[in-house]
Formats: sequence, C-alpha cells, structure tokens
Amino acid sequence: MKCFIYLFVIVKFGLSVVFTTEINNMPVIGVLAQELYSKSQPRGSSYIAASYVKYLESAGARVVPVKINQTRDEYERLFNSINGVLFPGGRVSIITSGYAKAASIFYELAIKANCKGDYFPIWATCLGFEELTYLTSGKLLLTATNTTGVALPLNFTKDSAKSRLFSSFPADVMKALASEPITENSHRWGLPIKSYNTSEELRNFYRILSTNNDGRVEFVSTMEAYNLPIYGTQWHPEKNAFEWTRPYIPHSPSSVMTTFYMSNFFVNEARKSSHRFSSKEEERAALIYNYSPIIPGKQSVFQQIYVF
Ligand SMILES: *[C@@H]1O[C@H](CO)[C@@H](O)[C@H](O)[C@H]1NC(C)=O
Ligand SMILES: *[C@@H]1O[C@H](CO)[C@@H](O)[C@H](O)[C@H]1NC(C)=O
Ligand SMILES: *[C@@H]1O[C@H](CO)[C@@H](O)[C@H](O)[C@H]1NC(C)=O
Ligand SMILES: *[C@@H]1O[C@H](CO)[C@@H](O)[C@H](O)[C@H]1NC(C)=O
Repeated sequence: MKCFIYLFVIVKFGLSVVFTTEINNMPVIGVLAQELYSKSQPRGSSYIAASYVKYLESAGARVVPVKINQTRDEYERLFNSINGVLFPGGRVSIITSGYAKAASIFYELAIKANCKGDYFPIWATCLGFEELTYLTSGKLLLTATNTTGVALPLNFTKDSAKSRLFSSFPADVMKALASEPITENSHRWGLPIKSYNTSEELRNFYRILSTNNDGRVEFVSTMEAYNLPIYGTQWHPEKNAFEWTRPYIPHSPSSVMTTFYMSNFFVNEARKSSHRFSSKEEERAALIYNYSPIIPGKQSVFQQIYVF
C-alpha cells in the first residue's frame, strides 16, 4: 500500500525529507464551526469562538470558517483550498454532531493527503483533542475528570524533548510551561494514561508530550502524531491572550508567550501546504472577513463569537 511506504519513509527519515520544502507564506486555515448549545442566539444555529481566529491570525494565517451541514463534496473542495484545519473546543457530541461529521471528513482527507506527500496539518484543542482520540481509535476512551476551569503547569514526558511541537520552543517558555499554572483546562472528560496505554491504535499513532493530574486521574494533556502533522492539546492555548470572561484564565507574560509559540508552531506547519483556492474571488468569498463577530450573552465563556 502506497501510504504504508510513505509512512515507512517518514518514520525512517523524518517528515521534512518526504515533503516538499517550498514555503507558502499566505496560509489559510479552516476552523470548524459547531452547533450553538444555547438557542438564545437568533442569528444562526452554529458558531466559532473568535479567540481561535485571533490565535491563528496572530501568527500570520488567515481563517476560513468550516460550517456544519455541508456536503462531502463541499468539504473536499474546501480541503483542497486550505492549508490546515483547527478543531476547536466546545461542547457538542464527538460522534453525532455536525462538528464531528466535518472533523471526521477532514481527518480522513488529511491522512490520505499526507500519505501521498501532500502536507496538511491538523490542530485540535480540548473537544478537538477528544475528537481525535475517537477518530483514531474508533472508541470512546474518555473518563470524567475534575478539570472545568483550572490552570495547570504541564508535566512534560521524556518524549517532549524530541517532539516536533516543543523542541523549537525557547528554554524560558518551556520552563514556564513546566512550572507555572499557564495552561487553561475547561473540560469534563480526559484521556487517562491507562486508556492510552491499553489502546493499540492510540499508542501506535500518538506520542504523549505532557500529562496532567486532577488528583484522581492522570490524563494526556498534549500529544502529537508520530508520523503525521496532527497535534492535540486538552488545554486551551488560545485563551491566555484572547479570552477574559473567567478569573482562572491566565494572562501573565509567560502565558501569553505560550499562546503565541503554540500558534506560531501550527501556522508554520500550514506554511508547508501548497493547497490554494482556484481563484482569488473564491478565496475572498470564503474568508472569515466576510463575517462580523458578535458579543454573546453575559454568561458566555467567550468574548466574541461568529454565528452562522
Ligand atoms: C444543520 O442541520 C440541522 C438538522 O437538519 C438543522 O436543525 C440546523 O439548523 C442546521 N444548522 C446549520 C448552521 O445549518
Ligand atoms: C475539583 O478540583 C477543585 C480544584 O480545582 C477542588 O477544589 C475540588 O474539591 C475538586 N472536586 C472534587 C469532587 O474532587
Ligand atoms: C503506561 O505505560 C508507560 C510505558 O510503558 C508506563 O511507564 C506507565 O507506568 C503506564 N501508565 C499507566 C497508568 O498504565
Ligand atoms: C504531575 O505529576 C505528578 C505525579 O503524577 C502529580 O502528582 C501532579 O499532580 C502532576 N501535576 C499536574 C499539574 O498535573
């Protein structure tokens, strides 16, 4: 099988040898929308939190919304036009929601493309991380954790030092990540190390870069795929710089540096993709600039959201 040979070459010689090194300095990244859980928003039934858009823009990318309820053909067309995709956090089903359906199509297309040497990175935050565990294993391996609104330092694994994600980070940022509570956790579920250990699919696919502990369960907090540009954090790198609605969101200088280094890493991954829209008009029509963010209700955890 072709993909197998490519993966073998990647394992043996590393990602950079297989993929072309031409750099695309105009990367466009898709961000998945998801169903609105509160029906109080009259303007639409799905949303994207604006912090994910700002996060990617801050490192030099432009964003297109990936709306729910599109056909497979429409998702494929979009996939071939953009340079990476971000599965954001949220609270919809990782199996049946429109978000889950779109994620599953993009995941499958990304694996196929990468196996053919067509670089296409995926970033997954919080719910997106949980979605990846389901897409890769085909199973629900998550356990309830007591982690709704708490900032933690990362417990780095030995493997983190040789990871693609963290090996380029400056030493002071790594030190801050390991010692200061600057990674914001807002999740009810986590992937226990024990479940990772017992899942062959996950073990063969992802390298664990950091773990955390809620006092009861040790769970995976950062991971990257061994052989593909797929990355997941159970925590929220985008919130430190861009969300102000809860007292537990860190805003210290080192926490904001973390936001930037994470987005910078992913946008650099997207710069390795050469996908493009078939015309400037099509690109213009797809970009998030066609929409204006709104201020959601006072209870919302988000500063601003885009509604579709
Ligand atoms: C998606 O489809 C569902 C079910 O058909 C519908 O209720 C919902 O309004 C649609 N949402 C969007 C944003 O198109
Ligand atoms: C959950 O964690 C918080 C600290 O983040 C702690 O105060 C609380 O007691 C914990 N609750 C349970 C049920 O363990
Ligand atoms: C998971 O596997 C690793 C490596 O084999 C081992 O060091 C660790 O103790 C295991 N952890 C759990 C919770 O099973
Ligand atoms: C780091 O790991 C240790 C040992 O498992 C654990 O006691 C501690 O709570 C973890 N720290 C965090 C911030 O999760």
